[in-house]
Amino acid sequence: MRWWDVEAVQALDAALFGPTAWTAAMFWSELAAGATRWYVVAEGADGQPAGYAGLLAGGTEADVQTIAVAPAAQGRGLGTLLLRALVGEAARRGARSLLLEVRADNPAAIALYTREGFERISIRRRYYQPGDVDAWVMRLRPLPHLPEEPGEPGEPGEEAPDA
Ligand SMILES: CC(C)(COP(=O)(O)OP(=O)(O)OC[C@H]1O[C@@H](n2cnc3c(N)ncnc32)[C@H](O)[C@@H]1OP(=O)(O)O)[C@@H](O)C(=O)NCCC(=O)NCCS
Repeated sequence: MRWWDVEAVQALDAALFGPTAWTAAMFWSELAAGATRWYVVAEGADGQPAGYAGLLAGGTEADVQTIAVAPAAQGRGLGTLLLRALVGEAARRGARSLLLEVRADNPAAIALYTREGFERISIRRRYYQPGDVDAWVMRLRPLPHLPEEPGEPGEPGEEAPDA
């Protein structure tokens, strides 16, 4: 993800997450955080973002900051691809576990994470507002070493730019 992706990514984020969507400033702040972050965008045939994902990885514990796929592109494996890209990058950076938070009322995301080996480790009651929806904290540990394909995120030059 580059600075010029932020406007379209934020519009997609707003469409997908509604009141809990990130602002453009939040995406800018993540990109500006530099070395501890890794953000990727999957571009559709129309040149627009079909999905995006972000990682915080600086130590032994990494976090999925965000992951989303445009409605028209869902159900075709892109979410899996993005999640595996984050797992691979976290492992490459030396993380031993990968954590995420997910709304308890998001079965599609929970199914994806569970299928990829994440386990629920705790519940944050009434974490998401509005609506008093619980957050599940899920963790993948240890991190599998996934093969990197040529041209996939993780290559030199695909890093988020330093601030
Ligand atoms: C969660 C999300 C990223 C999945 O992306 P995707 O590209 O549709 O995922 P995939 O096609 O790779 O599917 C992977 C798995 O997710 C689960 N899944 C996807 N869509 C689903 C649905 N509508 N209902 C139930 N499970 C679903 C399944 O386990 C699926 O595996 P399967 O195809 O073997 O059954 C996508 O639904 C999304 O962006 N949702 C809105 C934003 C969001 O909730 N992000 C996560 C915040 S924590």
